[in-house]
Amino acid sequence: MHCERKITDDLYYIGASDRRIERFENAYPVPEGVSYNSYVLLDDDVTVFDIADRSVIGQYFQNLEAVLDGRTVSYLVIDHVEPDHCATLADFMVRYPETRIVTNVKALNFIKQFFELDIDDRVLIVKEGDELQTGKHTLSFTMTPMVHWPEVMMTYERTEKILFSADAFGHFGALSGQIFADEINFDSMWDEARRYYSNIVGKYGVQVQMALKKLSGLEIDYVCPLHGLVWRKGFEKYLEKYQQWSLYKPEENGVLIVYGSIYGNTQNAAEVLAKHIVEAGQNNVKVVDVSKTDGSYIISDMFRFSHIVLASATHDAMVFAPMGNLIHLMEHHGVQNRKFAVIENGTWAPMAGKLMEERLLALKGMEKIGEKVKVRSSLKKDGDEQLKDLAMQIVGSF
Ligand SMILES: Cc1cc2nc3c(=O)[nH]c(=O)nc-3n(C[C@H](O)[C@H](O)[C@H](O)COP(=O)(O)O)c2cc1C
Ligand SMILES: [Fe+2]
Ligand SMILES: [Fe+2]
Repeated sequence: MHCERKITDDLYYIGASDRRIERFENAYPVPEGVSYNSYVLLDDDVTVFDIADRSVIGQYFQNLEAVLDGRTVSYLVIDHVEPDHCATLADFMVRYPETRIVTNVKALNFIKQFFELDIDDRVLIVKEGDELQTGKHTLSFTMTPMVHWPEVMMTYERTEKILFSADAFGHFGALSGQIFADEINFDSMWDEARRYYSNIVGKYGVQVQMALKKLSGLEIDYVCPLHGLVWRKGFEKYLEKYQQWSLYKPEENGVLIVYGSIYGNTQNAAEVLAKHIVEAGQNNVKVVDVSKTDGSYIISDMFRFSHIVLASATHDAMVFAPMGNLIHLMEHHGVQNRKFAVIENGTWAPMAGKLMEERLLALKGMEKIGEKVKVRSSLKKDGDEQLKDLAMQIVGSF
């Protein structure tokens, strides 16, 4: 059965959710699934905005056929070629042989890399500022490279002030009947929105800033992203979050303590530091086990908190591997502008602290607080004193 929803008199949501998927992009756990959004605008010419992932394509085409009600599709706007939206392009082109693809040159190159499709005479190439009239609606196109791939563009519909924002302003999580952000309590969704942002486009803060500048001149009544809920109210809050995240400004004053521990002694040091920080007056502290918590959640918390402490056992003269992987993710996702401290542990030649410090200092705008605390096998009285001192310095640095 088709399962579309109306957004405005002419615009319909025709996306669908995958609840079976384990990891989005085979990397990020999505326990609540994910939605792949697509939209149809009815007018003299019918326009479809992006397609959907293979996993939901059956539902997708049912939704599209229901809205078309026998009509055909004149234009398929492709804002983003990544396969979670575009892998089904060949199926689409066979089903709708009269459809013309509307996209930019870079996107067309990517399409040709992914597919062996003979589509040159079915493509309308657009560039920055170009407009396309579909009847009473006018579409204009703006390039927003690296949010999230180089070919990404956003499409703005002038008559009803609708922004098709590609991956921007999306979030993880399947949809449950609601398609508008104001149909749920979105406060419960910010963690997943931040986890999506930080892991998908976190590294591209500069490019997100450029995109936000381009959008700042537009009046926007609806935002239609490629994942998650549609915005028609309260979108300013999402813009504010994007400003903060893309400028790498922490959302909260607080300390994230991540530990990597084999036998529990490094964990003990992390817990003791947390206690000292709270006793020194900062209650916003979160302790996380790097071996147990997927890195995407920790990266998201790093975009949230102002201070990061990494505590790791030494493992074969290296940082304990799960912690090494986390630092790799910090490099990968562009974590920056944070205050940090490190704790190391080792029985014969502790090395983890020096190695972690080197890598953290190589990230942009990182400021070291205090001296690294060295634990030899297990925390003793002098180590406790050092952690107390470190806690005072951390709390003093807010
Ligand atoms: C496989 C393995 C390799 C280790 N390599 C080192 C090392 O290179 N240098 C060192 O000082 N300690 C090394 N250790 C010892 C641990 O770092 C040390 O016992 C530490 O106290 C463990 O902390 P934990 O209780 O938090 O796991 C190693 C331990 C294991 C299990
Ligand atoms: Fe994408
Ligand atoms: Fe996507």
